[in-house]
Amino acid sequence: MLRNMRTWLLLQCALFCCCVGLRLGEFTPPTINISLDQDPEVRWKPLSQYFDPEYLKNASAQVIDSTVPKWVHQAVKPVVLALEKYIPQPYAGEIRGLAEHVGGSLSDAIILNFAYEVSAFCTSIVTQDQNGNVYHGRNLDYPHPVLRNLTINVNFLKNGKIAYQGTSFAGYVGLWTGQSPNKFTVSGDQRGSEHWWNWWKNWVSAFLFQRSPVSWLVRETLENAEDFLDAVLRLSKVPIITGVYYIVGGVRAGEGMVITRDRTGPADLWSLEPINGGWYRVETNFDHWRPPPKDDHRREVANKALNATGQDHINMETLYKVLSLYPVCNGITVYTTTMSAAAPDKYNTLIRAQGCQP
Ligand SMILES: *[C@@H]1O[C@H](CO)[C@@H](O)[C@H](O)[C@H]1NC(C)=O
Ligand SMILES: *[C@@H]1O[C@H](CO)[C@@H](O)[C@H](O)[C@H]1NC(C)=O
Ligand SMILES: *[C@@H]1O[C@H](CO)[C@@H](O)[C@H](O)[C@H]1NC(C)=O
Ligand SMILES: *[C@@H]1O[C@H](CO)[C@@H](O)[C@H](O)[C@H]1NC(C)=O
Repeated sequence: MLRNMRTWLLLQCALFCCCVGLRLGEFTPPTINISLDQDPEVRWKPLSQYFDPEYLKNASAQVIDSTVPKWVHQAVKPVVLALEKYIPQPYAGEIRGLAEHVGGSLSDAIILNFAYEVSAFCTSIVTQDQNGNVYHGRNLDYPHPVLRNLTINVNFLKNGKIAYQGTSFAGYVGLWTGQSPNKFTVSGDQRGSEHWWNWWKNWVSAFLFQRSPVSWLVRETLENAEDFLDAVLRLSKVPIITGVYYIVGGVRAGEGMVITRDRTGPADLWSLEPINGGWYRVETNFDHWRPPPKDDHRREVANKALNATGQDHINMETLYKVLSLYPVCNGITVYTTTMSAAAPDKYNTLIRAQGCQP
């Protein structure tokens, strides 16, 4: 009996420590209110209440150093400044304001905003339970640990109310993850393995062809789209600077879609089909109709875990658990967001302080 008791206590302790251990590895980022009623040049000022300008300057320099070779960085500065006049509003004003108020040079603020366009590996899942509730989750992976310290939730306010919200990095005006309350949710995953040395193609595309960076289209869609369908249409057809996957969740049963994007338009639309057993869709960084590379098991592990969870048990918590499994969550995972447009208050981002290990 005593022995059993001890075993039981040990087990409880192990469970407890394990859970506490997991919790220690996660933290919530700051939430910052940005008022769209203010001029673009000043609206990001609140950022300086949360981040020391010196720290931001240093962190931005680290991200730039890891994405843009030093000699290129020096060489492009004057070009970037000359091109600044082609950047559309409100982004031009916001980036100029960030450089002025949060520290750093204008050319670096611009380069930083394009450096993040080459994001790394990500996993997004859209799913619905048996009652038709739609859930949407994503892991954002990026091979630089400093991003864990730069991650922020942003409320974009109009007339003091949340018009839309998202998760971003301090100094970056685009969104890879966001929610239009009671309308839809969006996440973006890089398509294929475009490498940083191709970043200049994106620049040419952006400036010469007036195409939108993929994260700006997410923001514009969150700001302007009326509902799920409108969001899907906008995210499918507006020209962008590089291919990407847009994952969209709505508020009604069946409203879930993975959009595979080429620069000029949609390559494929893959929607939830709950009546045919398609109650979830997993998108990593490869076209869903092709097998992923042999050494990338994220899709398979997520599919298996969702099958094991079952449609009758899927919810925000179980979705988070699936997104916590290695290698879906891995050494370079920066944050996990779970959201459901019909329950906007449940929007939740947790930072993976150490990523996830096998
Ligand atoms: C950032 O700060 C660290 C420590 O103060 C320093 O070693 C490093 O060189 C700085 N990095 C850049 C890119 O400025
Ligand atoms: C992030 O911030 C923490 C606490 O300020 C610090 O200890 C850590 O070194 C930072 N990490 C990076 C990669 O800058
Ligand atoms: C941000 O705005 C929301 C909505 O108006 C408000 O409830 C919240 O208190 C604000 N937070 C801060 C830190 O100002
Ligand atoms: C998940 O379940 C579906 C439907 O039963 C099946 O087609 C698929 O192979 C399963 N996937 C995995 C990875 O087990």
